[in-house]
This record gives sequence, structure tokens and C-alpha cells, in this order.
Amino acid sequence: MVRQLVTYPNDVLCENARPVQSIDDYIKELADDMAHIMYENRGIGLAAPQVGEGLRLVTIDISGPEKREELMVLVNPEIVEKEGEAESEEGCLSVVGYKTYVKRADKVRVKATDLEGKPVEFEADDLLAICLQHEIDHLDGILFIDRISRLKRKFYDKKLTKWLKNKND
Ligand code: NI
Repeated sequence: MVRQLVTYPNDVLCENARPVQSIDDYIKELADDMAHIMYENRGIGLAAPQVGEGLRLVTIDISGPEKREELMVLVNPEIVEKEGEAESEEGCLSVVGYKTYVKRADKVRVKATDLEGKPVEFEADDLLAICLQHEIDHLDGILFIDRISRLKRKFYDKKLTKWLKNKND
């Protein structure tokens, strides 16, 4: 299957993703595709809804698209603990042409299943903590632009409308 990056506005990005029931070939292939699309687009994280699949699956590699040393595939990930506060600049492969500062927890504890079906639980801070919160938000239909001020959001929506109009004219 040829999957492609889905960009805002699109319904699949605003919906609650379904839990993965069993880690079969379909899910493994989806994870492969997601990692590929993430690296191709120079991202450090991707959630299944971003490739049009409403499933609770994310790929993350904070070592970046060149190194590709820390690929993490998480099935049904959930944040079980949060601590502190951090504000950092975020962007999203599904939100074209916009980056801004978002407030999040500074440390998180995450529970998930790996691609072999083994339960994993770990703590993360800094960039990984931010990335995990951003990607897990996608599974709940939340984009980083849903976490910014109304004014900033209006500004982005206006900019996007103009941009899409110019593109289609
Ligand atoms: Ni994103």
C-alpha cells in the first residue's frame, strides 16, 4: 500500500484513533511505512493518523533523519504520569508552514507495547518527552495548534486559507 502524509485540515487528524488489537503483518507494515515517511519528510515523530490510519501507533526517532539510530515504535502508547512544565518550539509534518511554542509536561512516564508484543514502560524527559506528548496527542485527535492561544490559531488558519487558495487558483 502506498501511504502518504495527511495534512491539516483533514478529519482523520481530529478523530480518536482505535487501539491496535493484534500486532499482525498489517501493523508491522504500517510501522515500516510510517518510519519511512517520517525519515523522508525529515521528522522525528509520526502517528498513524498522519498517514490516514486511525490506529494507536507511533514512530519516534529523536536521533533525527540522518542518524536513524533510535527508532522507537510504540503500539497503544499512553502517558501514565506527567511532571513539571516545559515550553518548546514545535512543528508537525501535518501542519504545513508553522512552528510555535507549546507548553507541555517536562517529564512523562509512558506505557506501551513494542512491535514484538512485549509491554514496555519507561520515563522520558527533554525532547523525547515533548515528542511523546505530541505524538500521543495525535492519537486523541489533538494537534499542537489545538494547544496554542486562540489568537495564534486564528492567525495560522487565516494564513493557511490564503495559502490553499493561492495554490488552487
Ligand atoms: Ni505532529
